Amino acid sequence: MDDSQRLAAFPTLHVSNHPLIRHKQTLLSDERTDRRMFRELVRELTSLLVYEAMADVPVRSLTYRTPLEETTGYELEPRIGLVPIIRAGLGMVEAAADIIPHSEVWHLGMYRDEQTHQPVSYYNKLPKTCPDDLIVVLDPMLATGGSARDAITVLKEWGATWIKFVGIIAAPEGVQEMQETHPDVHMYVSVLDRELDDNRFIRPGLGDAGDRLFGTIKRDEE
Ligand code: PRP
Repeated sequence: MDDSQRLAAFPTLHVSNHPLIRHKQTLLSDERTDRRMFRELVRELTSLLVYEAMADVPVRSLTYRTPLEETTGYELEPRIGLVPIIRAGLGMVEAAADIIPHSEVWHLGMYRDEQTHQPVSYYNKLPKTCPDDLIVVLDPMLATGGSARDAITVLKEWGATWIKFVGIIAAPEGVQEMQETHPDVHMYVSVLDRELDDNRFIRPGLGDAGDRLFGTIKRDEE
């Protein structure tokens, strides 16, 4: 099955074929990439993917002054909230907040149980009601899809009605899970990898994004 056949099965998945993204994605997954470069690449890929994910966001026109005269311009119409899934989503949030004017950030914490591979929620800092028109969920990895699925269920219960997921790397199993549970949520990633292995790691993958961002690989292996 070639790439276009694989992607045809996932109408809500957007895999960028931009040369810069493909180049940086390859560097990111290379085992020789050190932590500093990994963090930088996550930030750069986030900016590029958020740029693509925002392509259908409406703008309204406004009148303002340049230093020379009055003219018309545009501003983003929706209020936009960013929801990084802690931990690894923290590596993306600064770049996303920098590129989306006036966005605000809400945090959800989830980790995947190593035995059951099921997501466990451990932090929720959402206010009582959802103040945003568009919520952008940030997590570099979509493996089984359980973490993103549960996070988005929480966000819908909170009142979010328009949600996008920006990741970096996805496995077909995770995309399938998301598509079945949240068919209204579009996903933006730089690569759709081959598969999950028996430990539910993405293959070929990039390892664990959280560990590579925060340098916790050695401690976990001790
Ligand atoms: C990773 C990743 C996602 C999740 C993806 O987080 O950042 O949140 O796993 O897996 P899933 O699609 O099968 O749910 P992890 O549990 O390693 O926690 P971390 O972000 O603290 O490293």
